[in-house]
Amino acid sequence: MRLLVTGGAGFIGSTLIRVILKERPDWSVVNLDALTYAGNLETLADLEGNPRLAFVKADIADAQAVAACLKAHPVDAVLNLAAESHVDRSILDASAFVRTNVDGTRVMLAAAMAAPGVRRFVQISTDEVYGSLGKTGLFREDTPIAPNSPYAASKASGDLMARAFGHTFGMDVVITRCSNNYGPYQFPEKLIPLFVTNAMEDKPLPVYGDGLQVRDWIHVEDHARGILAALEKGKAGEVYNLGGGNERTNLEITGLVLSELKKPATLIRHVQDRPGHDRRYAIDDTKARRELGWAPRVDFASGIGDTVRWYVQNRPWWERVKSGAYRDYYESQYGKRKAIG
Ligand code: NAD
Ligand code: TYD
Repeated sequence: MRLLVTGGAGFIGSTLIRVILKERPDWSVVNLDALTYAGNLETLADLEGNPRLAFVKADIADAQAVAACLKAHPVDAVLNLAAESHVDRSILDASAFVRTNVDGTRVMLAAAMAAPGVRRFVQISTDEVYGSLGKTGLFREDTPIAPNSPYAASKASGDLMARAFGHTFGMDVVITRCSNNYGPYQFPEKLIPLFVTNAMEDKPLPVYGDGLQVRDWIHVEDHARGILAALEKGKAGEVYNLGGGNERTNLEITGLVLSELKKPATLIRHVQDRPGHDRRYAIDDTKARRELGWAPRVDFASGIGDTVRWYVQNRPWWERVKSGAYRDYYESQYGKRKAIG
């Protein structure tokens, strides 16, 4: 199987590529990524030179570039992960979110439909499209779409576009909606890597509002295996929720990070809440377990401990992200190479 993975230089895409190359030894992957601020090829440095992995620097909203990529690298399936992914940025300015998450998804769908040989399109989405839960209840696949942030609205729009391509053109489209991921290589603007790296530097941990918002945390490798299961076993036109079954308040996560690092609670700073902040997310993943034979494997307590240790042991990776030095990497690796083919 030959796959096109978009957003493979990001947190989840890079993990997915690693999982695929390891667990499917005869598969190959083309990673198409625009290398926005969130894309970092240093994350894939260990795979450099792997003959089963190709990299194409392109924007998913650029129809010509995407078509050229699919022509140069014919594939059997497309996994669309490229996205603007940070809620706080979408509150400041939603334009890049609409461009990439809505129009980029449309471009990818149209290009996949036009490319001979593409048999399946998997749209990687989020539980945030369902909005916010009260104290009880879980998101099911038939929960109404009710996004609250501009990020969630853009992802919901991408999902609806994917659904429409399936319905109108008979494309084989599968959608996955996952809860909050944690693990190595997450951009340190998201809660866990931000708090781990700030605590390591004895900087304050900015907890939004009362910190009692709840997220359902899943290890990124479990998410990657869920995407793989949806690709291999999902039914066309279906949505699959993927979740970790680990509901924690943000303050609980903060406490875990501090205790893993043996840092004091005096680092906690309650700051002004995020506008429109969703109170609780939690996933019912019964359908994915039943139809895909998938279940998360990573135990939360050991997963979070390993993750904190990873950031401790890989300080150069996140220091270069926080300083912006990682952005020179592409230039040093690829800047002087001439295009071939
Ligand atoms: P990320 O921000 O770490 O990575 C996004 C990647 O997409 C980056 O490599 C970036 O360069 C690339 N990209 C952005 N715009 C692009 C464009 N126009 N063209 C090509 N590449 C572009 O994000 P992530 O956390 O790895 O999320 C990946 C996907 O999973 C997203 O679709 C996101 O909505 C979804 N998701 C994330 C989570 C989570 O907890 N992080 C949970 C559920 C679903
Ligand atoms: P985040 O990692 O941005 O993911 P999402 O908003 O997509 O769930 O945030 C996770 C939770 O942590 C969310 O409730 C917002 C909160 N949060 C903070 O309290 N402080 C922070 O500095 C950040 C980045 C997030």
